[in-house]
Amino acid sequence: MIKKCLFPAAGYGTRFLPATKAIPKEMLPIVNKPLIQYGVEEAIEAGMDTMAIITGRGKRAIEDHFDISYELEHQIKGTSKEHLLRDIRSLVENYTFTYTRQKQMLGLGHAVLVGETLIGNEPFGVVLADDLCEGEGKGVLAQMVELYKKFRTSIVAVMEVEGEDISKYGVIKGKKIEEGIYMVEDMVEKPSPQEAPSNLAVIGRYILTPDIFDILRATKPGKGGEIQLTDALKVQAKQNMVIAYRFKGKRFDCGSVQGFVEATNYFYEKYFKQ
Ligand code: UTP
Repeated sequence: MIKKCLFPAAGYGTRFLPATKAIPKEMLPIVNKPLIQYGVEEAIEAGMDTMAIITGRGKRAIEDHFDISYELEHQIKGTSKEHLLRDIRSLVENYTFTYTRQKQMLGLGHAVLVGETLIGNEPFGVVLADDLCEGEGKGVLAQMVELYKKFRTSIVAVMEVEGEDISKYGVIKGKKIEEGIYMVEDMVEKPSPQEAPSNLAVIGRYILTPDIFDILRATKPGKGGEIQLTDALKVQAKQNMVIAYRFKGKRFDCGSVQGFVEATNYFYEKYFKQ
């Protein structure tokens, strides 16, 4: 039902400098797989078949990753390492990857608007690949697609955040509809703990309806001088309806060094340790 997934991946990743000087943040690996590949696999699990990636200068490694590498495959053919490329090869063969560049990094809202040419007039998923999620039972995006079937509106994934950390997120004020499901009444980007309207913080998974593009076009730069997706969602919540969903599972903030190390330890222990 939702076929396309947008990956805004044009940010500078300044928290990871100097590692991100020549390598996109989205290509940093958790054990042996780049962050963006985890995101693509989550989108596929949710039934999506077209990955629309917003890149920028210095991000070409993402395109190369989702392409065939004849030389490398020739080199390892028939060796014990052949299986290491099997999963990525199957992604490349079976799914569509489209790209456009955000030429000026004017914020997440702007990056989503740049994606309009790749998405068109249909609802779509959004994955911020530096938020690495492991859903309980099924992936977080797959959980959200289920919810979309019921509500047919934009959906933001939220999690409970306590204390000072709330000021790192967009925070919702919502009316509870069911357990873990809220109708968004207001949103505040990076509030101080005193200003925060709740402890429900928005993370990097969204389902958006395409009216968001017109709203984004009319959205003025907000906090930090950037065009904020939060501001556009606030308008959408008033015009139409936006749902906040407390997802089931874990999320690692791999845009921060601490979250990145936690994710590495968790995935190594769970999936790689012999
Ligand atoms: P972040 O706030 O994590 O910014 O962006 P960043 O530049 O990637 O990282 P730091 O803070 O400098 O370390 C959230 C998401 O929005 C994308 C980023 O790539 C990231 O996935 N983004 C942000 C864009 O695509 N374009 C922008 O102009 C801003």
